[in-house]
Amino acid sequence: MADDVQAVGRLLKKARRVLFITGAGVSAESGIPTFRGLGAAFANGMTEEGIPFETVLSGPTFQRRPELSWKYFFLLKQATQGKQPNPAHHAMAALQSPQRQVWIATQNIDGLHHLAGSKRVIELHGTMKRLLCSDSECDYSAEADTFQDLPLLPRCPKCQAVLRPDIVLYEEMLPEAALERYALEQSKGFDLLFSVGTTSIFHYVIEPIFNAARAGIPTVEINPDETSVSDLVQFRFPAPAGITLQRILEATKG
Ligand code: OAD
Repeated sequence: MADDVQAVGRLLKKARRVLFITGAGVSAESGIPTFRGLGAAFANGMTEEGIPFETVLSGPTFQRRPELSWKYFFLLKQATQGKQPNPAHHAMAALQSPQRQVWIATQNIDGLHHLAGSKRVIELHGTMKRLLCSDSECDYSAEADTFQDLPLLPRCPKCQAVLRPDIVLYEEMLPEAALERYALEQSKGFDLLFSVGTTSIFHYVIEPIFNAARAGIPTVEINPDETSVSDLVQFRFPAPAGITLQRILEATKG
């Protein structure tokens, strides 16, 4: 492992463009349960309504029964509220330099990469830090550090339609602007790619790693568990993200 840390540190020193693809595991050390972890908190992944967790957080359920989805938005918000970036977020932010562009494509909705000071963050699944009007004709949006003062079914102050957090619900499309940026930056190419703390279930987080590996571009995975990209990557660290990224950051300084 120590040799691999040094090898990745050397690659980072030379790299001009780096991509980190991150998932819930990166925020685990900030005390936010991982997505699978949160799902497992419900018996068999079922909510007390007897509806699967992923269904209550889906676009169609939000359309039909917004008060039910909101019950779980409050829960999601509670899980992320007041949480602080951990050594993994800080290491990624510290790797930014005038010579090295560090891009982060995250599936996390907790805003912790921004809070750590990362400048080039693509939030593929949106953010809990903002509320939007659910009526696409209405342009209302507001920053929301907390949902504490909201009624059980918050409504838009402009048009009275139901509000929603600016996150991607199941069965919804990813945000267009984020996807365009993600595609643009991939088309420019990266010298080094990391997959950190994600089970890598979606094609858009697997493909950049797959394509880089096929093109002989170095790839790294940091995850205590095996995932769908574990066999593809050049360097695999079966370890927590915080300590591993801090060691790699140190190795860039030698
Ligand atoms: P998951 O909960 O599926 O996976 C978290 C991953 O983090 C697992 O592979 C763990 O092994 C790993 N992990 C746990 N602790 C870690 C640590 N300290 N350091 C490094 N890795 C650690 O979360 P995601 O892969 O992010 O989508 O889930 C992806 C998407 O699935 C979510 O964004 C959500 C869900 O469907 C939507 O809501 C659209």
